[in-house]
Amino acid sequence: MEKNSGELRPVLLSEYRPPLFLVAGVELAIDLYDDHALVRARLELYRNPAREGGERPEPLILDGEELELLRINRDGQQLSAESYRLEGSRLVLPDPPARFTLETTARIHPERNTALEGLYRSGTLFCTQCEPEGFRRITWYPDRPDVLAPFTVTISADQQKCPVLLAGGNPGERGKLPAGRHYATFRDPYPKPSYLFAMVAGDLAGIHDCFTTASGRQVALAIYVEHHNRDKCDHAMAALKQAMRWDEETFGLEYDLDHYLIVAVDDFNMGAMENKGLNIFNAAYVLARPESATDDDFERIEAVIAHEYFHNWTGNRVTCRDWFQLSLKEGLTVFRDQLFSQSVHSPGGKRIGDVRLLRDHQFAEDAGPLAHPVRPESYLEINNFYTLTIYEKGAELVRMLHTLLGAERFRRGLKLYLERQDGTAATVEDFLAAMAAAGDRDLDQFKRWYFRPGTPRLQVRDFFEPARGRYRLRVVQNAPPEEALHIPLAVGLLDAAGRELTAALLEVTEVEQEFVFEGMAAKPTPSLLRGFSAPVRLDYPYSDQQLQLLLAHDSDPFTRWEAAQLLNGKLILERAGDQGEPAELPASHAATYRRLLTEAAELAAGKTSPHGTDKTLAALLLTLPSEDYLAEQMELIEVAALHRARQSVRRDLALALAAEWRRLHDAAAPLEPYRYGAEPVGNRRLKNLALDFLLATGEEDNFDLAHQQFRRADNMTDSLAALKGLVHAAAPQAPETLAEFARRWRDQPLVMDKWLAVQATAPYAATLEQVRRLLAHPAFRIDNPNRVRALIGSFAANPVAFHAADGSGYRFLADQILVLDPKNPQVAARLATRLSRWRRYAEPRRGLMRGELARLAAASQLSRDLREVVGKSL
Ligand code: TRP
Ligand code: ZN
Repeated sequence: MEKNSGELRPVLLSEYRPPLFLVAGVELAIDLYDDHALVRARLELYRNPAREGGERPEPLILDGEELELLRINRDGQQLSAESYRLEGSRLVLPDPPARFTLETTARIHPERNTALEGLYRSGTLFCTQCEPEGFRRITWYPDRPDVLAPFTVTISADQQKCPVLLAGGNPGERGKLPAGRHYATFRDPYPKPSYLFAMVAGDLAGIHDCFTTASGRQVALAIYVEHHNRDKCDHAMAALKQAMRWDEETFGLEYDLDHYLIVAVDDFNMGAMENKGLNIFNAAYVLARPESATDDDFERIEAVIAHEYFHNWTGNRVTCRDWFQLSLKEGLTVFRDQLFSQSVHSPGGKRIGDVRLLRDHQFAEDAGPLAHPVRPESYLEINNFYTLTIYEKGAELVRMLHTLLGAERFRRGLKLYLERQDGTAATVEDFLAAMAAAGDRDLDQFKRWYFRPGTPRLQVRDFFEPARGRYRLRVVQNAPPEEALHIPLAVGLLDAAGRELTAALLEVTEVEQEFVFEGMAAKPTPSLLRGFSAPVRLDYPYSDQQLQLLLAHDSDPFTRWEAAQLLNGKLILERAGDQGEPAELPASHAATYRRLLTEAAELAAGKTSPHGTDKTLAALLLTLPSEDYLAEQMELIEVAALHRARQSVRRDLALALAAEWRRLHDAAAPLEPYRYGAEPVGNRRLKNLALDFLLATGEEDNFDLAHQQFRRADNMTDSLAALKGLVHAAAPQAPETLAEFARRWRDQPLVMDKWLAVQATAPYAATLEQVRRLLAHPAFRIDNPNRVRALIGSFAANPVAFHAADGSGYRFLADQILVLDPKNPQVAARLATRLSRWRRYAEPRRGLMRGELARLAAASQLSRDLREVVGKSL
């Protein structure tokens, strides 16, 4: 209740004070029942010697939300009514002794917890989500990340209903209790903040394996899932072992407990959670079989499994002092999982995928009303702060450090940081200090990246002096001199034949700076921002010819892809601005595509590329830029015109090169059974890209081709690509194919999510009606975040139906947000961010989006989460 009333007061970094009391140890006893749970907590509290002041005695304040107090004891004595106060979400002890034991008993209701924070039920399972502030819904506690304590946890439950009892740490005693109940105890020797606490109870199947660390210790690994999913864990288990080995080899980091457990749950607000020794995962990031999961699912599972595992060092052994430091663990850990994924897949392809996510979505966040620095100074609702900026831009900052220091000194810096801060709650400054010391570099200027919101612009112009053989690059960044950023700019110079003349890492440190290259026979073509070496918007007036050269010859996968994006983007944006008949496809563009297509077909047929192009990269080079990214480049976004323009370029390329696309599709569709691995994944990417273009022709033969692919596919990647192609092309086979898919997969909710998403993203006005019908379909449930994201979230990414000019799409989204908010504020607030950038859109959409935000703002009883997003957006 507390959460839903009163004004919103921001939490400020400047108001940070060390905790008044620390916790020497926690003992929890959690008794689970069908209609409630009892939580007995025993806290050893003592005054923090590091907290200055202390002339006036200060009250001890513990956090606690939606807890019913049954008993409270201090040092074994029941507390009198005047020695404590319950004030909304706080328990206040006005006059605490310097050291004491506090025992409380609370009654809570996991069975009614729809917010999925704290202890809740997911189906028949009991589980927890405590980051960032869920622990206060379990018991009274100083629920902040800088209070670290060793936890001992005893869980009791009905033995039949909950045969499996789990918590983080090493297992201790277990046994039977009266009335068909049993219990189990777990001890975590590593002091941890409350947000890393976790427990699970239910009827689960365990898949077991083991891992021997570099120093020879045995770690028992287990993945727990519902019984019918036990055959879907092999991939996650293999990924876990691969990640454990990789972190030892790359950073010398070993796992530190005897057990590492992963539990998959159906109802989960985010991807997964790194609780010490007991990761809890959204089932979507664990379960996979070739028939039911796509190649992208397989890759995401690897990445998320690795991410949560890597948190054991960057997040758990060293945690965050306060939530302003969130990127200290998240940005660093995302960077680590990106490096890991680059090492197991097409490295260029993975990098391009990460850049796409950043530019399509983080750049937009950074340009809108929810923009914030990677290390913010204030927030209203911390749950809203798990953003692309904290995660993805945060990872880019760490990547720039890696680039500036080099891999070896970066490794030493990370090691020093972990040694210095082990067992503590650290800050971004601590991290940078260790990197500076080990890297022997001054990072004071670099630090500015952490405090600056928005995406920097980098303007590059070049000059050639033939007489002196001198080539100059002039670089200008958009900042006042005292705020200039330290920007690593990786470049190469190519001659007219595409040969690389030189390559360098330029360090931009001034607002305006010139870099000079001597000994040039002619003006070279610059390959700028190789590897996307800094998260900036680059402005250089590339000619089409230069772009063709880079695309054909550069050694860097990112700049080649970017050249293709720029060539395509120019064409699409021009068409979006045209009023009359669309221009013809320039012959040079068709020729470029023909060359790329020929190379791709050769790769698919087994030839190797002269400059190391792999199949995934070849597919990316042929992929049109996304509407999200192109929209960013329009002064005011004209969604409908942009969509039409992109579709028309796609169709022209499809028609002009129909035979080539068909040849690629056939070359990339070998008759071998499904396998997961860089080669076959790359093949499927090429094949399904070709299918996508072929369907753009609108020709019956191609509909048949897709339908055949659907019928014959032995894997979800191919069958989903075919289904989506048919539905999005409004092919006559679409309805029966949808029905067939549903018949086959109706018992598998994660697969039905794909079925919902395919329909919700179909680019037609009629989609809204279909989405309304699907709200009532058995495959949909509004209380499950995955279902909500699949249907409503996907709809909000629909370029046509969501942005219908009559505002019906926006109204629908706002209606759904209002239904969702009382149940699950986190998910409701996230959906509302889809309306936040209304100012960027041309009328009438701008006013219509704003109108829906205003309607949300006027509604009564909004959650804090939603109020923050709506308030900031308006
Ligand atoms: N720390 C989690 C991660 O690995 C993020 C997370 C999981 C989370 N569940 C959450 C954040 C719930 C907020 C609320 O990135
Ligand atoms: Zn994380």
